[in-house]
Amino acid sequence: MKFDLKKFVCYLNNPEIKIEYFEVIDSTNTYLKKASHINNQLIIADFQTAGRGRFNRKWISNPGENLTFSLGLENLPINLLEKIFFLVPVSIIETIESLYDIKLNIKWPNDIVHNSKKICGILIESSIESESKNRIVIGIGINCNQTDFPEEISQRTTSLKLILNKDIDRELLLSNFINTFFPHFEEFKIQPVIFYEKYRERCILLGEEVCVIHNNNEYVGIFSDISQNGELVLQMMNNIIKFNAGEITIKKD
Ligand code: BTN
Repeated sequence: MKFDLKKFVCYLNNPEIKIEYFEVIDSTNTYLKKASHINNQLIIADFQTAGRGRFNRKWISNPGENLTFSLGLENLPINLLEKIFFLVPVSIIETIESLYDIKLNIKWPNDIVHNSKKICGILIESSIESESKNRIVIGIGINCNQTDFPEEISQRTTSLKLILNKDIDRELLLSNFINTFFPHFEEFKIQPVIFYEKYRERCILLGEEVCVIHNNNEYVGIFSDISQNGELVLQMMNNIIKFNAGEITIKKD
């Protein structure tokens, strides 16, 4: 079904936000990255022909069933740029949990999972021109009403409809996210550590043995901590290595 923009706007508390809707687009992130002004700009699409995930993987989502959108922010204090990484998944989880009887977690760095199955992916892309000039594009895909997934991901992917056994009101969910995100964002600018702590509490695999793959090398150790910059801290036999989200994948076995 087509996303009902009028209904969505009715639910919004935030008059500041500028919204563009596309029935079909290549990628909401790609589109927003090319735009000249992106602050508080929300791009919603019912279908992406070239949806992207981390590591330039494809993000595939059935037309009209899920939420695929990007939100732009500009000129954040430089010390907060990388910490947005904590704010976004926490805001999504709190939104979904306030609407539905469900418990969600984070798989480092930015996957939202239910019983270890992914229901939401986040792609944050930033560009920094100077200390005070920067742009962030936050791309989010939430599996809402899709019940069939390509075979290669079906074992590790799920949707809200599959979990809750009911149709998900996408307009209500997205408006609740926006209504949650902006007040959180104000709080975040003053006390980012709140979101770091909330993020940490939700992180699965923390304290467990994991295998980190970086540049085709495998590192086995205990996922002992997440630094305040969002790095994964791996405690190995004789040393500690910190990994950035951009450069690794993590697997349990
Ligand atoms: C991941 O899990 O690797 C991140 C997936 C992010 C997908 C969203 S869908 C909306 C936005 N546009 C894109 O092309 N990607 C993000």
